[in-house]
Amino acid sequence: MRHADIIARLTLEQKCVLLQGAKPFGTWPLDRAGVPQMEFSDGPSGVRHQAGEHADHLGLSGSEPATCFPTAVTMANTWDEELEERVGAAMGQEAAVQKVGTLLAPGLCIKRNPLCGRNFEYFSEDPLVSGKMAAAFVRGVQSNGIAACPKHFAVNSQETRRQASDSVLDERTLREIYLAGFETVVRESAPQTIMTSYNLVNGTYANENKHLLKDILRDEWGFDGAVVTDWGGSNDHAAGVAAGSTFEMPAPGLGEARQLIEAVRSGRLAEKDVDERVDEAIELVLATRAGLEAAPAAFDAEAHHALAREAAAEGCVLLKNEGGLLPLAPRTRVALIGDFAKTPRYQGAGSSAVNSTRVDSLLDLVGETELELAGYEPGFERHGGENRAKLDAALDLARHADVVLLALGLDEIAETEGAERRTMALNANQVELVRAVAQVNPRVTVLLSAGSVVESGWMADVPAVLYCALGGQAGAGGALDVVCGRVCPSGKLTETWPRRLADVPSSASYPAEGLRAEYREGLYVGYRYFQTANVPVAFPFGFGLSYTNFAYSDLKATDHGATFTVTNTGSCAGAEVAQLYVAKPEHEVFRPEQELRGFARVELAPGESRTVEIELDERAFSYFNVATGRWEIEGGIYEIRVGASSEDIRLVAEVELAGTGAPDPYEGVDVTPYETADVTDVDDAHFSALLGRPVPDDAPRIEPNMCFRDLNYGRSAILWAVWLVLRSRVRAMERSGVSDINTLFIWNMPLRAMGIMTGGITDKGVVDALLREVRGFGWGGAVLLVLALALGWGPLVGCLLWLAWIVVPLVGAALLNLVRNAALARKL
Ligand code: BGC
Repeated sequence: MRHADIIARLTLEQKCVLLQGAKPFGTWPLDRAGVPQMEFSDGPSGVRHQAGEHADHLGLSGSEPATCFPTAVTMANTWDEELEERVGAAMGQEAAVQKVGTLLAPGLCIKRNPLCGRNFEYFSEDPLVSGKMAAAFVRGVQSNGIAACPKHFAVNSQETRRQASDSVLDERTLREIYLAGFETVVRESAPQTIMTSYNLVNGTYANENKHLLKDILRDEWGFDGAVVTDWGGSNDHAAGVAAGSTFEMPAPGLGEARQLIEAVRSGRLAEKDVDERVDEAIELVLATRAGLEAAPAAFDAEAHHALAREAAAEGCVLLKNEGGLLPLAPRTRVALIGDFAKTPRYQGAGSSAVNSTRVDSLLDLVGETELELAGYEPGFERHGGENRAKLDAALDLARHADVVLLALGLDEIAETEGAERRTMALNANQVELVRAVAQVNPRVTVLLSAGSVVESGWMADVPAVLYCALGGQAGAGGALDVVCGRVCPSGKLTETWPRRLADVPSSASYPAEGLRAEYREGLYVGYRYFQTANVPVAFPFGFGLSYTNFAYSDLKATDHGATFTVTNTGSCAGAEVAQLYVAKPEHEVFRPEQELRGFARVELAPGESRTVEIELDERAFSYFNVATGRWEIEGGIYEIRVGASSEDIRLVAEVELAGTGAPDPYEGVDVTPYETADVTDVDDAHFSALLGRPVPDDAPRIEPNMCFRDLNYGRSAILWAVWLVLRSRVRAMERSGVSDINTLFIWNMPLRAMGIMTGGITDKGVVDALLREVRGFGWGGAVLLVLALALGWGPLVGCLLWLAWIVVPLVGAALLNLVRNAALARKL
């Protein structure tokens, strides 16, 4: 242990409070023991530090101004680890300036389905890009002497019922798809903390999942930092501490510490486990002190804005450029159309929302370019719906310009923490506008702002589309840099764009509304599915155009790596993201058609050639064998495929590997859908064959993890009313187009989280009292009403007695909690 001396001086009570937050974003200070408070802050696209009294974890109260960098989707599209590291370093510096010891970022959950409300906060559908970009970001943040916190560990790919959804998947899919990125970030950048996800994984909450936290994270990958719960994500912290989870956040109240103390006293939790977690907690707090003390008094907001602009430009993906419409020549007369040109959509909603130091818009900046502005028109209602006048005004303007720059995108409600997108389509009024504008002026360039993929049928009507993703506060400048040719586009997609949502293998069951999210498609996520199942897509993984051209030659490959040459054969300088995929056309054990195993971004002057080297290790050829419980290699011939996208393979070489000789883990098991990638509708029998156990049942139960959204299944009239109010608020939010993150949080929150989200006012005892009410305890009060009527006390008194019957146990439990907390507080 690193801090045995301090730990020896602490009482059990002090140790237990150290393992929980004292305020929404602060650890528990034990000043006399030399352990000060350390602050956390979101991430991931900028620092969201609430300095005042009213901190909350959903971004409701204002936070200090910070640079809003491009969101993870945009950063991933750069494929530029060096740039990502610089962004991480700048964000880490802002955090340190604001006295934040741990930045709650990056987010690297796998984009399993285009509808996930938080896709904008995550890097990719592919674990290699996710892990590499996350590792670069962590290195950058931690270069400031503070900590980064990759999240959400693990298998957290939907928002619906997010605090109590059970992600059910087989061990191979877990390892190869959902954990691989986390493994890379842990092994390559040694983050000092990691955040567990809200959900369960195969029946056990991630935060108390020994298999994830102990066997894999700590023992296998060697993580020795602090594990932090997501905010309100702890189910049973005694189980969490035993499994390897350190901090329970946000400020769960002393009721939680009492439970830990009780667990140690009753022998349910070993004090040794508490000590280990306390050691991790102290290490984090003390290790980040130096960084905080060395931090400058202020950060250079101008320089960080410029960096955000550079990143935004590099993150743009040129999806279409017929006839070389882009870049636009100086003095081109442009009509700027689209609400997003004036009010940019540059970040997502929820805990990641940054109070930006400033926000540029296309309209503000177009005057700084050499383009001539013919005028601006919003063209459509931002949140959907017809507006003939706006449409007509836009068409009028379009007629009088050389080129139309059309700013389209998803609105705020479409991409928010706490809820899924309801459709993959753009609002119909925008699609209508594209068609109408293209008829009056065919020279249209669409600038698209969206944190995840959209249906793209409308792109057939326009010659040029630049996907800007969510570009952060300087996104508009970055987009204009590409439009005007100051930057040659080099971004490539890190998420496949399907033709339609129905083509996505999880589409029929996503998001899972019930208790379990079953990952029936297994390994076949993103391009791994589309390419193996031969389903055509709108834009493949790894795709992106440039203003120049690149040629590939001279591939030489061994099982340790590959070298090849990339040449810029065009007339302007540019960067190419070369990708290396490994395939095994002849195989025994089923596997995707090919998998990304390396990439390199090469900057080249016109005519310049460069030799690129990509290293490969054993894992590039391995699969996780569920029979041996290890990574194994199947012997035989492998193809090393090098290309400009997953579908644009330019060079292929073969290498032969001896293999590890492991038995086929699926011998005698019928996993036919996985052999053919026919996984859109896997039945119970095949899924259970893959899982190696029966598919669990999905019946809702009245228990502490029942969510507010399920109160209608309970037996309490009062809570039915609460459910109705909440549901109507969710519906109102959906209609308004503006995210109400607070309501969404409560809607998906399990009852037990009340005990830890009320700042110590309630505890488990209050939750138990509430559960009794859900089970129908309140109807007992009807007896009192009847009695009051029989005794002639009248209906008013009767009703009051009924109410008291319900309220008294709750208030009683709350009072008891306060008394017990006060007793514990005296011992600290
Ligand atoms: C989010 C986390 C975030 C935390 C603190 C949670 O709701 O899931 O990503 O870091 O809140 O704001």
